[in-house]
Amino acid sequence: MVTHHELFTDLNSWLRQRRALRAAGVSIGFVPTMGALHAGHLSLLKRSSEENDVTVLSIYINPTQFDNKDDLKKYPATIEHDLEIAKEAGVSFVLLPTFEQIYPDGYRYKITETDLSEKLCGAHRPGHFDGVLTVVLKLLNLAQANRAYFGEKDFQQLRLVAGMAEAFFIDTEIVAVPTVREIDGLAMSSRNINLPVDARGLAPLFYQALKTAPTTAEAEEILTLEGFSIDYIEDIDNRRYGAVKIGGVRLIDNVER
Ligand code: PAJ
Repeated sequence: MVTHHELFTDLNSWLRQRRALRAAGVSIGFVPTMGALHAGHLSLLKRSSEENDVTVLSIYINPTQFDNKDDLKKYPATIEHDLEIAKEAGVSFVLLPTFEQIYPDGYRYKITETDLSEKLCGAHRPGHFDGVLTVVLKLLNLAQANRAYFGEKDFQQLRLVAGMAEAFFIDTEIVAVPTVREIDGLAMSSRNINLPVDARGLAPLFYQALKTAPTTAEAEEILTLEGFSIDYIEDIDNRRYGAVKIGGVRLIDNVER
């Protein structure tokens, strides 16, 4: 296992490195993140380390996917801790780009999907998936990896990214990784550290309700009674998707049905 990693804040240096890796014939696994790494991210990184010669991690809080300025401002940044996790997971290369490097076009060019992206989170967060798909396309082109890893925690994002990769003939396999949860069932998320104690206590009810309520209406009723405010709870194609707010934090989750 590699116990040290190389940081790239300059993408041109990274692209030189990547050409060398390709020439050496090593396989590359890529894990794009926005940092504040937790056990969910770690499971993507470990899977990548198992399946590839080297793993590339990107940490970039992408402003174009935040529809809410306050959410962006509150988004946790824990870079020192993130680099420790990266070491633990056997990451070889960490990309830490700036907005200017990622958006030389000033976000004049964007990717828009016109069906699934308008549902669920897309209906509640205008422009969110344009921002996600655009940055993921840029990052996939920068990494030029054999495989890229995405969590089922963000199932709608995973489906949209997989669809984009297919639509644009992207030569990177999109690999889905199961959701990692706390012992009480709450899906790991970078935003969980913003939960006040009482809201953290209630948060596992969200997963419970998604899993056990016979209908979406009943899930909404239970959660509303407990003080959650509901963005949506919907069943689509054998999967129940939900987004709620509690203690000023937006939580999303999904379960197979
Ligand atoms: P972020 O929320 O940091 O998540 C990075 C990756 O980790 C995503 O693929 C996400 O689905 C996965 N992940 C997060 N929590 C998880 C959990 N509990 N179990 C399993 N996987 C989990 O998703 C993003 O960043 C951004 O939208 C990004 C794709 C990086 C584009 O900016």
